[in-house]
Amino acid sequence: MHLSILVCSLFGTLSASQSVSESYCPPKDVSEAQQRDIFHEFVEKFLVEKNATKALLDHMDEDYIQHNPNALSGRDVAIQLLGGGVGISRMEYTVMGEGFGGNKGFVHYKMQPPSGLPYAIVDIFRMNGSCIMEHWDVVQRATENMKNPLALF
Ligand SMILES: *[C@@H]1O[C@H](CO)[C@@H](O)[C@H](O)[C@H]1NC(C)=O
Ligand SMILES: *[C@@H]1O[C@H](CO)[C@@H](O)[C@H](O)[C@H]1NC(C)=O
Repeated sequence: MHLSILVCSLFGTLSASQSVSESYCPPKDVSEAQQRDIFHEFVEKFLVEKNATKALLDHMDEDYIQHNPNALSGRDVAIQLLGGGVGISRMEYTVMGEGFGGNKGFVHYKMQPPSGLPYAIVDIFRMNGSCIMEHWDVVQRATENMKNPLALF
């Protein structure tokens, strides 16, 4: 209740001062440099602050398109899956790389669960203006005795 009021009141305001609780959706026109900054903010909220609810509410379009095979489209679905924070907050994330160009941003990171081998993940997001509209990811888990000493990271 409180959250949706907050977010509604922030719609339509892409002010010069970029408050961290600002919503960037629905999309507004921004430059590519601003898109890069906004994308970076999203990555910080998600993987550094580990607040998926905030990252999704602030940055994701309500009708955003999901290509992960285990989840359906829509921001509400994503918040339900990730927003509880239970899974996310138990993971340790290390960002290996991040980039943005041509309306798409990627982030490559290591995800270490509380036990077991780590995962290498690349998330790719398409933005329209200020707002994230679409997501693809590739996920690969480390195995025991990997042939390549440089494997994954
Ligand atoms: C996550 O973000 C939401 C929305 O901004 C906020 O209400 C909540 O307190 C944050 N959770 C944590 C653990 O910081
Ligand atoms: C971007 O958003 C605007 C405003 O909602 C919409 O009119 C336009 O069709 C969208 N473009 C793309 C490529 O999604």
